[in-house]
Amino acid sequence: MKSKYQKIKGTFDILPADTRLWKEMENILHNISEQFSYEEIRTPAIESIDLFKQNVGYETDVSKEMFTWEDHSHQQIALKPEMTAPVVRAYIEGGFFRSNPLCRLYYMDSLFRREKPQKGRQRQFNQFGIEAFGSSNIEQDVEVIMVAATCLKALNINDTTLHVNNIGSPETRTQYEALLKKYFAQNTRSMSSLSKKRLDTNPIRILDSKEKEDQSIIKNAPIVKELLNDSEKEDFNMLLSNLDALNIKYEESPYLVRGLDYYNGTTFEITTLSNKSQNALCGGGRYDFLVEKMGGPSTPAIGFAAGMERMIIESQYQVAKNSIDIYISSNDLNHSRQCFSIMQNLIDNNYTVFFDTNKKNVKNQMKDAIKRSASYLLIIDKNITVKNIKSNDEIAVSDFHELLNFLKNQ
Ligand code: HAM
Repeated sequence: MKSKYQKIKGTFDILPADTRLWKEMENILHNISEQFSYEEIRTPAIESIDLFKQNVGYETDVSKEMFTWEDHSHQQIALKPEMTAPVVRAYIEGGFFRSNPLCRLYYMDSLFRREKPQKGRQRQFNQFGIEAFGSSNIEQDVEVIMVAATCLKALNINDTTLHVNNIGSPETRTQYEALLKKYFAQNTRSMSSLSKKRLDTNPIRILDSKEKEDQSIIKNAPIVKELLNDSEKEDFNMLLSNLDALNIKYEESPYLVRGLDYYNGTTFEITTLSNKSQNALCGGGRYDFLVEKMGGPSTPAIGFAAGMERMIIESQYQVAKNSIDIYISSNDLNHSRQCFSIMQNLIDNNYTVFFDTNKKNVKNQMKDAIKRSASYLLIIDKNITVKNIKSNDEIAVSDFHELLNFLKNQ
C-alpha cells in the first residue's frame, strides 16, 4: 500500500532492522572516544548562517548548499551542514580555553546539505567526529589519525586508504592558490566547465574535480609540498614516521587540500578502495586559525569527521539478532492485573519481555514466540505455566518468586 506521504528526497528512515547495527556502532564510537579521553559535545541543529559562510568558506559546497531561512525576527538561520564551526563556537562561548587548555571533544550528529542526492550522498546524514584544541604539536595530529584508524578497525572496515598531506600555513595556501590559478589558466582548453567556473572563485577546488577531462591537467599541477618551509616538512616527516611505527598504512597525497577554507598544516582523508564516486569515509585536518578568527584566543586545533552511513555500508561488523527472554501469553482480560504485575517484576529483574496484547491462541503465540527468538513462553491463566521453548520442558509456578527461581536455575 502506498503511503499518502513520502520522505523528502535525500533523506532516509533508519528502520528497526538496521537500528541495532547503528546502536552498536554508536556504542563502539562512544567507547573509543572515551578511551582516548575525548568528551562528548552536543550542539543545536540550527545556527546563524554567518557562522558557516564566514568560517567554512562561502564558496565551498558545504556553505553554498545549506538549508537556510529567515525567522520571524529577521535572523538568518541555517540547519548545520558540518560540526567544526558549531563546536568552535561552543568552545569559545563556553570558555573552554580557560578551564581546559588541552580540550578534546567528540560528537555524533545529524547534518544537512542541500546537495544532489545520490548513493552515499544524502541531504540529511550523520557524522561522527572529534576536535582537539590546544596543541600545535605534531603528536596531536598523530593521535587524531590514530583515533580514526582505531574506529575503522573496531567497526571492521577494511580495504581503505589513508591519504595524508601538509598544506602549510595560510600564507602558503595563498601562494599556492596563485600558483595553481596561473597553471590552470594556461590549461583551460580541455578543462571541464565546472572547473572553469572554479578558476576564479576557488582554484584549489579544481584539485578535487572528479571530471574525466580534468584528470590529466591535475596530474601535472604544481604541488604544495614545494612551498613548505623546513619546519613544516619536518613535521610532515615526523607524522609519517609515527604512522609507520603504529603500522597505520598511508599514501602521501600531494593534491589533498580539502574543500573547506579553514585548514592549514596536516590534511587527511580515508577513502574506500571502491570506485564509487562518494568513496570518502572520513576527512579532517588542522585548523589553527579558526578559533581566533571566530573571536576566541589564538588556539591550535585539529579534528576529523566520518560519515556514519558510509561507515555502515562498508562495515563487515555482525550484530547478534534481537532476542526476547519471555513471551507472555494471557488470553483472558480477567488476568490482566496479574499479568502486568509479573511483567513489571520481570522488567525490574532485567528480563526482556514481549506481551501479546492481540490475544492470539496459545498455539499461534508459540509460533510467534519462536519467530521472535524468545527463550520462554509464560502462560498466565488460572495457573501460571512457564515453558522452555528449546527443550519443551514446562512447569507450573505459583507466584513470581517461584518463576524467578526457575529462570535463574536454567
Ligand atoms: P567533510 O569532508 O565535509 O568534512 O565531511 C566528512 C565526512 O562526512 C565525509 O568524508 C563523508 O563521509 C561524510 N559526508 C559529507 N557529506 C555527506 C553527505 N551529503 N552524505 C553522506 N555523507 C556525507 C567536514 O565536515 C569537516 N567538518 C571535518 C573536520 C572535522 N575537519 C576538522 N574537523
